[in-house]
Amino acid sequence: MGVTKTFYIETFGCQMNAHDSEKVIGTLEHEGYVRVEDEADAGLVLYNTCSIRDKAEQKVFHRLNEYKRLQGEGKKFAVLGCVAQQEGEKIFERAPYVSLVSGSASYRNLPAMLVRLEAGERRITGLDDRQTDQTFDTEFTSRSNPHRGYITIVEGCDKFCAYCVVPYTRGKERSRASNSVLAEARRMADAGFTEIQLLGQNVNSYRDPSGRMSFAELLVAVGQIAGIRRVRFTTSHPRDFTREIVAAIDATPTLCDHVHLPVQSGSTEVLRQMAREYTREWYLERISWIKAAKREISITSDIIVGFPGETEQDLEDTVTLLEEVGYDAIFAFKYSPRPNTPATGRADLIPDEEKSRRLQVVLDRQREIQRKAYARHLGQVMEVMVEGYNHSRAQVTGRSSQNKTVNFTVGQPILPAMGSYLPVRITQTFPNSLAGEALRGDDDRD
Ligand code: SAH
Ligand code: SF4
Ligand code: F3S
Repeated sequence: MGVTKTFYIETFGCQMNAHDSEKVIGTLEHEGYVRVEDEADAGLVLYNTCSIRDKAEQKVFHRLNEYKRLQGEGKKFAVLGCVAQQEGEKIFERAPYVSLVSGSASYRNLPAMLVRLEAGERRITGLDDRQTDQTFDTEFTSRSNPHRGYITIVEGCDKFCAYCVVPYTRGKERSRASNSVLAEARRMADAGFTEIQLLGQNVNSYRDPSGRMSFAELLVAVGQIAGIRRVRFTTSHPRDFTREIVAAIDATPTLCDHVHLPVQSGSTEVLRQMAREYTREWYLERISWIKAAKREISITSDIIVGFPGETEQDLEDTVTLLEEVGYDAIFAFKYSPRPNTPATGRADLIPDEEKSRRLQVVLDRQREIQRKAYARHLGQVMEVMVEGYNHSRAQVTGRSSQNKTVNFTVGQPILPAMGSYLPVRITQTFPNSLAGEALRGDDDRD
């Protein structure tokens, strides 16, 4: 009997990175590796990195430095993800104990890279030159949640916003054939999944390589699979947002009533500098389509404050846009200069304290917007998917179709099963969550 091959993996970054790790784990397990929860016990330590903001590469090198003390007895280290792609072979110079560096666009070659690793090769790279048209499709995905799972339908990005590393770290935009997406969604439904989240850096930029379906048609087709109760999709880019998507949500109850449509700034001038290729008005027109839907669709966004050259008036434009749209949630970030991106060379950088102040202005306004917005749910009954229990187990927590956190009591000693769906009456509202009581369990299947 050979020695058991073991691995440990640590993951940072967006949902696509989390899902990449699920695919990497599945691939490794298929190759005979066993996952362990402690890096000290692993023969292979993998670190799946993110590079989106905040000196990410420095943090990675710091963490790799900590790994140094684990060296010995043939232990191997691999760096994956966006920092791996961005820093490339420089990682071997600064952390010579690392033997494999691979960006996400090369993961389909992982089995071959693992063979070389096991043969003792020292500097294996999977680095992308924005050439590949291939996606990383594998049937060996190890999903961490048995009820809700991701499917990546489009990888990479061709938009090149002036601040963003993604087009450099994830390669060129490429979509997965609709047949392959639907086959995976059906397999998931058969395995008991009820919620599917379709992923892409710009999920709605999806272009079926087989030419069979538009993005909206794919949404509907996934939503019609027997057993699937919820379909989410993220992130939508305003440039590629169509009325057809709104019509699909209206017509298909399993499509969740939520659109994440990042605006980044409310100022047309800042948007131009960011190379977002839309104006405030153009964005607001898409919002008006969503608001005109028959179903009430929740809208959320990402905001960047302190982009080089952003004036007080530009910031004010962002605040008034928040109010005009009335978002249900935002992720707001201080602009952070990233390697290789055009905005990084600019001289008119805004000092960090000022960026922090602007971030606070945005967050304070948004909190008030949400306090009022969430109050509209008082007294409503909504379906909640059970995701967990609080410490005392007196409360259950879950999510509504609109992706809002709902904490509720069940009025019975037996708690509902994880992944089950319950109607909950909302009795209290907060700026970031809702609270209520379950009416009855409609399915306590397991
Ligand atoms: N493709 C999506 C967003 C992907 S990145 C879109 O275009 O909307 C997720 C979010 O990170 C972005 O929406 C943006 O708000 C933020 N972000 C990206 N680069 C950043 C940077 N250099 N500094 C601060 N925030 C950044
Ligand atoms: Fe980055 Fe822009 Fe691509 Fe989004 S669209 S991933 S912000 S370059
Ligand atoms: Fe980070 Fe790469 Fe995702 S930079 S946010 S892991 S695309």
